[in-house]
Amino acid sequence: MCGIVAYVGRKIAQPLLIEGLKRLEYRGYDSAGIAVIDQSGDLFIRRAVGRISVLESVLQQDKVQCQASIGMGHTRWATHGTVTELNAHPHTDDSGHIALVHNGIIENYAALKKFLTEKGHTFRSQTDTEVLAMLIGDVYNDIKARNHLAAGTSLLQKAVQAALHEVEGTYGIAVICKDEPDTLIVARKGSPLIIGVGQDEYIVASDASAIVGHTAQVIYLNDNEMAVLRPDSFRTTTIDDVDVHPVVTQLENKLEEYELGDYPHYMLKEIFEQPHAIENCTRGRLELRENRVVLGGLANFTKELLHARRIILTGQGTAWHAGLVGDYLLEDLAKIVTEATYASEFRYRNPLVEDNTVVIAISQSGETADTLAAMREAKEKGALSLGIVNAVGSTIAREVDGGVYLHAGPEIGVASTKAFTCQCVVLTMLALYLGRRRFMSPQIHQELIDGLASIPELMNRVLQQSDLVRQITEEYCERENWLFLGRGYQYPVALEGALKLKEISYIHAEGMPAAEMKHGPIALISDGMPVVFLATRGYQYDKVISNIEEVRARGGKIIAVATEGDENIKRYSQHVIYVPDIHESLQPLLTVVPLQLIAYHAALHRGCNVDKPRNLAKSVTVE
Ligand code: F6R
Repeated sequence: MCGIVAYVGRKIAQPLLIEGLKRLEYRGYDSAGIAVIDQSGDLFIRRAVGRISVLESVLQQDKVQCQASIGMGHTRWATHGTVTELNAHPHTDDSGHIALVHNGIIENYAALKKFLTEKGHTFRSQTDTEVLAMLIGDVYNDIKARNHLAAGTSLLQKAVQAALHEVEGTYGIAVICKDEPDTLIVARKGSPLIIGVGQDEYIVASDASAIVGHTAQVIYLNDNEMAVLRPDSFRTTTIDDVDVHPVVTQLENKLEEYELGDYPHYMLKEIFEQPHAIENCTRGRLELRENRVVLGGLANFTKELLHARRIILTGQGTAWHAGLVGDYLLEDLAKIVTEATYASEFRYRNPLVEDNTVVIAISQSGETADTLAAMREAKEKGALSLGIVNAVGSTIAREVDGGVYLHAGPEIGVASTKAFTCQCVVLTMLALYLGRRRFMSPQIHQELIDGLASIPELMNRVLQQSDLVRQITEEYCERENWLFLGRGYQYPVALEGALKLKEISYIHAEGMPAAEMKHGPIALISDGMPVVFLATRGYQYDKVISNIEEVRARGGKIIAVATEGDENIKRYSQHVIYVPDIHESLQPLLTVVPLQLIAYHAALHRGCNVDKPRNLAKSVTVE
């Protein structure tokens, strides 16, 4: 949520910042801006409402590109203050010496603003960020006036440290000052920042996508840490100025993985990448001949997991839906009491965390504020904390006691697709890993790991039906209300199908257990309303057919996702999308694919921006 990129080195900063902002645009795209220190030693700032392309046009009007080799950029997802140029970042103090970009929320900004206003400062925007810029400027001028800094100490560093001590809330910030034109200061608490280490240069960003094209050497800044970066030196400290030994690590993903390639949209690319992503996710983890699942990141916690009194799966949105699939899997296959809970609810309901509770945080980005807070809460209450995360080096991944990476590759489309299926795959592997050590027979285990290994190939068969799904979708995509219904393992898939449709095509959709429909929502069904039924082979198949009948009797149009070979279903449905036959516990991995495609084709047909839906941004780093 919001993207930051900052550079200090020997190259011209401006094109680098724009390129970085384009890569970060999926994290927020209502307005953007850059600040650099130009040759005459002044701050050069340009901001614009809209996409990065709008900012680029604004910059082109300047005719001459600024030659500065220090600067920063920001792409915004508004929290405080409407979407206007004045509210876009970077913000400056009122002397115009200091510029700042910020991700996060300054919670005590109102009190700070009052204090600074009373001191005579004048604010131009409605943002919390401007308050922080002003505070840093105020402290800077105070220290300067007292003139008591030891030689060689950065005044800007001292001012940032002092200001951050006054701040409550979360931040990932980059700061520059025209009086220290070779110094870039960055700091974090609760909002990710990664420092890319190059040859005589540093490129800092809120995620690796803006760094990977420049260097693979990175330092992940921890909460309450900051760095003072100059072309020829850097120093990492805590906010309290205690030196921190920087750990330089290697980025895992390659630049090509962030590229669109031949696809028109990231979402479509990521839907079609799923078979490959699942192969990567299961590589080295499914040992078919030995009939074994190997999960290295959990090896030290097997005992705790096997004797867990309760497993709590927590996440938000799509990740929570995967958690719900995991809830069914772990109870059904491993016979462990499991609960899937929204992280945002868990965190604030003063949850009971009994002895032997294991909390598993599920998150693509590893940065979702609610999920992170829930995981910390559970950990503080004594639970073993584990993570199922895609982004390597992310905050959740670093803070949990152990866990499993998805290895799905970067997910850029705002609507999560391949992360969902890989999260379900990891949860399936976990259920098998534990199930086999508890009550599961070797035969069932073998059947299931063979089934899981066959998913990429079977999924490719489902993907080949994209055109059929498009035709069906186009028939109904002017309808403003859809329902998605499923039972058992298919209930979370119904929720996921509805979420995908609403978030990218702005069609109102609800997902629910098929049986729940009779308890109220059936009143919604009107003539011609599209209702997607997950009607695959399984022990509740007949019950689903009864639910289909109830909808048909009220004029609903049935789109069934059914098992290949099921001819019977055609008698009840206007349309059937077939998926290959597989064990019930593995079906969500196949049935979700047509629903992702329905959402994609509906959004496209309705002229929506598939990868950057309105009001949304990838990775929600505020609570
Ligand atoms: C929906 C979607 C969101 C995320 C949710 C959690 O398509 O992408 O619902 O699933 O914001 O994000 P992560 O997985 O990054 O914690």
